[in-house]
Amino acid sequence: MIIGIVAIARNYAIGKDGKLPWHYPADLKFFKQTTTGNAVVMGINTWASIGRPLPNRLNIVLSRTAELEPQPGVLLLRSKEAVLELAKYLKGDIFLIGGAKTYENFADSIDKWIVTEVPETVEDADVFMPRDFADGFEITDTTELEGGLIVKYFQKP
Ligand SMILES: NC(=O)c1ccc[n+]([C@@H]2O[C@H](COP(=O)([O-])OP(=O)(O)OC[C@H]3O[C@@H](n4cnc5c(N)ncnc54)[C@H](OP(=O)(O)O)[C@@H]3O)[C@@H](O)[C@H]2O)c1
Repeated sequence: MIIGIVAIARNYAIGKDGKLPWHYPADLKFFKQTTTGNAVVMGINTWASIGRPLPNRLNIVLSRTAELEPQPGVLLLRSKEAVLELAKYLKGDIFLIGGAKTYENFADSIDKWIVTEVPETVEDADVFMPRDFADGFEITDTTELEGGLIVKYFQKP
């Protein structure tokens, strides 16, 4: 299963200056609990933003040209197709953890979305989700996190 997981502002902002435009410990905890034990796929910009391998997850980093120092738990792949091929051999789920370019490239292959709604409008953000990113999906569950965050689970009908 390929699952997109994203935290998104009221105006669809997800990033600013190469980072998250907010700090919500409850969402970071939720992200950790949800993704641990699985593979996470991220674009090279998101990799640079996180700055280290996420522990207890296979970290798959995507770039067509960049090189990375070999390190445990990190795999550099060159294409979406390479990720989909690898997915056949993985036991757990694949979580797409961003950013916008990576979500966009995988849009046709995403089975589920887990979306944290952040109760803010980030006017000066520089990375946004497209407003129609969850078109064709339906909400299957909703939960609340501390800090006024709402998590919505989306699945294809
Ligand atoms: N709110 C959230 O939940 C959330 C989650 C993640 C990230 N973010 C934020 O989003 C921003 C980064 O997003 P972004 O869109 O700029 O970058 P990104 O998706 O992290 O990285 C984009 C780069 O990844 C590589 N890539 C992506 N898809 C690929 C594919 N199919 N094949 C090969 N390479 C591929 C390319 O690298 P090359 O150009 O080297 O080929 C591309 O330029 C940051 O501000 C970050 O904090 C927010």
